[in-house]
Amino acid sequence: MTSSPKLCALLQGFALIKYLALWKQPMMMKIQEPSMSTSFVFILLYTSMLVLCNIRQLQAINDFIVKYSNTFLDSVPKILPPKTTILDLSENNIALLHTSDFTYLTNLKLLNLSYNHIREFDAIVFRFNAELEHLDLSHNNLRNITCGSLQVIKGLRHLDLSSNKFENILHCKEFSYFLHLQYLGLSATRIQRSSLKEIAQLGTLHVIFLGLQNLSSYEPGSLQVLNTNKLHIVLPVYLEDPFILYDAMNTSRTLELSQVTCEKACDNVIEPLSTISKTSKVSTLIISNITVSWEYLNQMIKAVLYSSVEYFNIYQLTQVGQYSYFIPFNSSNTSLKALSMQHSISKVFYHTGSPHPLQTFSDLMIENLTFVDTGMIHFMCPSKPSMFHILKLTRNKLTDKLFQNCNTLPHLETLILRSNRLEMLSLVSSMTSSMKSLQYLDVSNNKLQYENGEDCHWSETLLKLNLSANQLTSAAFGCLPINVKILDLHNNQISNIHKGIMALKSLEELNLASNWLADLPDCSHFNSLAVLNIGMNFLHSLSFHSLQSCQNVRAINAGNNPFQCDCELRDFINWRTQTAGDILGWPESYKCQYPEHLKGTLLKDVHLSEVSCNTAALLGIVLGTMAALILCILFLCLYFDLPWYVKMTWNWTQTKHRNRNTNPKDLPQNLTYHAFISYSQHDASWVKDYLIPNLEKGDGSIQICQHERNFVPGRSIIENIINCIEKSYKSIFVLSPNFIQSEWCHYELYFAHHRLFTENSDSLILILLEPIPQYLIPSKYYKLKALMAKRTYLEWPKEKSKHGLFWANLRQSINVQLPEHKQENKKVFNTNQEKVYEPDTVSLN
Ligand SMILES: *[C@@H]1O[C@H](CO)[C@@H](O)[C@H](O)[C@H]1NC(C)=O
Ligand SMILES: *[C@@H]1O[C@H](CO)[C@@H](O)[C@H](O)[C@H]1NC(C)=O
Ligand SMILES: *[C@@H]1O[C@H](CO)[C@@H](O)[C@H](O)[C@H]1NC(C)=O
Repeated sequence: MTSSPKLCALLQGFALIKYLALWKQPMMMKIQEPSMSTSFVFILLYTSMLVLCNIRQLQAINDFIVKYSNTFLDSVPKILPPKTTILDLSENNIALLHTSDFTYLTNLKLLNLSYNHIREFDAIVFRFNAELEHLDLSHNNLRNITCGSLQVIKGLRHLDLSSNKFENILHCKEFSYFLHLQYLGLSATRIQRSSLKEIAQLGTLHVIFLGLQNLSSYEPGSLQVLNTNKLHIVLPVYLEDPFILYDAMNTSRTLELSQVTCEKACDNVIEPLSTISKTSKVSTLIISNITVSWEYLNQMIKAVLYSSVEYFNIYQLTQVGQYSYFIPFNSSNTSLKALSMQHSISKVFYHTGSPHPLQTFSDLMIENLTFVDTGMIHFMCPSKPSMFHILKLTRNKLTDKLFQNCNTLPHLETLILRSNRLEMLSLVSSMTSSMKSLQYLDVSNNKLQYENGEDCHWSETLLKLNLSANQLTSAAFGCLPINVKILDLHNNQISNIHKGIMALKSLEELNLASNWLADLPDCSHFNSLAVLNIGMNFLHSLSFHSLQSCQNVRAINAGNNPFQCDCELRDFINWRTQTAGDILGWPESYKCQYPEHLKGTLLKDVHLSEVSCNTAALLGIVLGTMAALILCILFLCLYFDLPWYVKMTWNWTQTKHRNRNTNPKDLPQNLTYHAFISYSQHDASWVKDYLIPNLEKGDGSIQICQHERNFVPGRSIIENIINCIEKSYKSIFVLSPNFIQSEWCHYELYFAHHRLFTENSDSLILILLEPIPQYLIPSKYYKLKALMAKRTYLEWPKEKSKHGLFWANLRQSINVQLPEHKQENKKVFNTNQEKVYEPDTVSLN
């Protein structure tokens, strides 16, 4: 049922978001608001969901409890939640119940009206409370009850009418309607045989409680008609007439006697006790709230020892009177199996001389002995081999002198010494050394310590050891029983488990919660370890090595540690997904403490990527990427001549930038051509087929001065060349071995170069069409040699793919805006198309 409120909240939230989304849309899409009807339907749905959900939530809680205990009420409150199932009106001043008080509480199951002043009771007030099971009317002033109305509450399981002012035991034939009654509490000042007749017939009754504080007369034999498992009698303060006890001793299997006062005289109790014969019904005797002297207690126990009682429990014992030695008794033939004494206060000063009264208890031949919260400072070693299987000596003041050199506990299997004053673990160990059957020792909640080097001698049979809530440090691992299977060391001061400790090969369960551990213990010392608790320590992370060693652990609890959510923690998170075992408390008790920005985040919500944590992986990735990049560059260089492209592109952008910044006014005003081309006649086909078409591109934006077409007839060749070079922005020389052969070409080059120096402009562009070996260049062409050496030429690429960029570069380097000109030259260009000029044929000499 717990999930349904969550589901409801989820549904409501979802509906709300959906509705709000309807409002959001119009703002964005400029359509209408949700219509009135949509809103209405939504509100209707939402409220009905709210109502339905809340009803479900209420049903999910089984009981609706209303408490008005001790609130000075003098009547039943008029307005109570109608769904109330448990109503506590105890300890008030209510004197009267009205017929309408409970009519609307139809779910009422339990009603507590104890400790009020109710004088009369008519069960008719509960006519509408069909569910009522539990009714407590004890400690009121009831004197009488309307028997006829009782059948209204015949569904009751628990009815308490004790501690009232009834004179007689309620004597109603309507009791026979109670078919489910298990507990019945009654009280009376007078008991007669006839009055218990109806009650005796109730077959379902487990417990009859008789509050007989004010008993004045008892008709012998009355109790014996009862047929119940447990009879609990609160005795009158002064028990004058012991007959009721004589009867009680043979009525039920369990008999509890409360408020037994045996200070001065106790015969009225002890004598009936000694009549419990071996054949009596009573097998469990409980005496609670008893004030008794040592002597009478001694007699009581003696009486019980020779009876049918198997379990004898004494609660709230107050010891008074003079201290006297116990009379030793022979318990070898007793039916008693277990004796338990809990919460006793002693007003007697015991001295430690012998024989000590407690020797009597330690010499009892019974299986179980319990002394809880009795202020006992010492317990004796049995004087002869005892039968104790279980000794429970919790919450006393025992010290580690206990059972030293005691060989008479050969059958002891369980020894509970929780919450005492034990201090030395080594002494505790030597205490066990002679207990040949000891399997379970609980010494939790003491002040145990252990220093390195102290001798330890544990019983070899010890399988379970509880050392929790002591002051043990890591040194304690030097003093542990070798065969232990279950070891509880929680709430100590253990900070590490060092390597040298002895291996505990059988250890299956180890609890190290609430210690000072900074890392997981190395499980290799504990081969069989299956359950490990290291919650609430100082673990920042869990080292991989330790986790590996704990491979066999089936269940591990490492919750509530101050985890540092960094890469080291990934070991644990990875391990968690791989391990077949349970991680107890996951995920809610696994939270980050550091770093600050993750504080309080659940470990399961922290994501640490493989790369950021794994240095090798990170290095691999970086190096890999670098290698790939280098390979890629190498590949590009080798196969695609990347440097060439880069260089050319760089040149291109540079030139483009420069050209854009060139102002036509800064150029010589006589410039008519973008370029003059000088080449050997042998390279003419390349120039005509490639160079010129690609420079001019047929759009007329680039003017080329070419001797074949632009030479002005009538002028000398040299004049023409000089004229052409001067009027061109750049001079392009197509270099090849042929060029070297040509005198003219060199001549042209000479002029151009000359201009280069005189006008200080880099007007020369050298295109290396074919490689020219240095030795081919005659020494007289030293200028060409110098230029070649400077490598300031453009090489004609053989690969077709490079041509585009080559032309673009070339075009760019000559593409400037020429100063405005008359069209005279254009005419020359047009009219001289047929003119053939063969520089190679002209001799300079
Ligand atoms: C009714 O209240 C009294 C006093 O508070 C308490 O001792 C008693 O146990 C309660 N009875 C039941 C049945 O809860
Ligand atoms: C002794 O006590 C233990 C635990 O309290 C119980 O389980 C066992 O039955 C008892 N044995 C006898 C014989 O009473
Ligand atoms: C050890 O004793 C403590 C209380 O003193 C108890 O809470 C714990 O459960 C015990 N451990 C075992 C394994 O029984």
